[in-house]
Amino acid sequence: MSLLKEYLFNFGGAYSRVYVRRFLPPPEAILGESSQALLICDTHTEAIARRIAFPEVPICVLESGEKAKTWGSLEKIIRSARDAGLGRDGLFVGVGGGVVGDLSGFAASVYMRGVRFRLVSTTLLGMVDAAIGGKTGFDLLGIKNLVGSFYPAEEVHLPLECLDTLPPAEWKSGMAELIKTAVLGDGEFLALVKSLGGSFSPDREALFECISRAAAFKGGIVERDPRETGGERALLNLGHTFGHALESAAGLGVLSHGEAVAWGMVRASELGLFLGLTPRERAEEIAGIVESFGYETRAPHRFIKDKTADFMRALGGDKKKKAGKLAFVLPAGEGAVLT
Ligand code: GLY
Repeated sequence: MSLLKEYLFNFGGAYSRVYVRRFLPPPEAILGESSQALLICDTHTEAIARRIAFPEVPICVLESGEKAKTWGSLEKIIRSARDAGLGRDGLFVGVGGGVVGDLSGFAASVYMRGVRFRLVSTTLLGMVDAAIGGKTGFDLLGIKNLVGSFYPAEEVHLPLECLDTLPPAEWKSGMAELIKTAVLGDGEFLALVKSLGGSFSPDREALFECISRAAAFKGGIVERDPRETGGERALLNLGHTFGHALESAAGLGVLSHGEAVAWGMVRASELGLFLGLTPRERAEEIAGIVESFGYETRAPHRFIKDKTADFMRALGGDKKKKAGKLAFVLPAGEGAVLT
């Protein structure tokens, strides 16, 4: 089986090529002909960035984790580019997970009014979701992703090799987004994710197939609704309304994003069942898959047992409202609906 797949997406006129591979490609395959590049990574992905950098390619190393998704990190990237003398023909290459991808993409979108941008995604969450579709940004005034832009990477590399050393917590965070995408996809995709058997270190061929399908599925949605104005891209928020409220009520950083989204998908299924939008077998199937990977599925979640008011307040404050009203993505017989 050849472990290389390539997709070309057109996100509202911006072309984005996605490569899913088993191994990290050689530096020239990532940097291309560019003589002026800046690599942006964090302390966890610096070793990977050093494998990509020719000796003269500068590297900007950020702190790791959500706490680094700040204005200060953005300034650090821009200062590195300026110090390296990058001009308007420069290339920014982000090497990391969602935080590095969002920050480096935003920096690329504003440095000298926009320079070329490529991305090497190194986490499961990045590969199945964050790296594809051009959402960039950082946190400001205590609000996640308050500032951002749509700026798709011209090339996105998804080398499975980078997952070989991924910590268990990162697997858990990314797997929930993979399950979410498969629930939105078709029965065959969901069966494939089920076949991973609840393992956080799955067979690489099966994982390659899952990541390829997730990339193709998400790319297709973003092609049809690049700026989340038509409703279809919003379906990718399945599990996120309940999940964000859980994350926030539990205290930011207590649960990973994925753990919260997994729990949120089960809540969305229950609400869908109650409203007659989600068939019972479908709700049970989703809960079964989520449980098979060891996620907490029961309500109230053990981390917010005595925090119902906080949870409800956070739920009411969800920023993805429709005409001022809370919007929920609920599983349907196949796919999902926004209501
Ligand atoms: N992560 C959801 C989106 O890219 O729209």
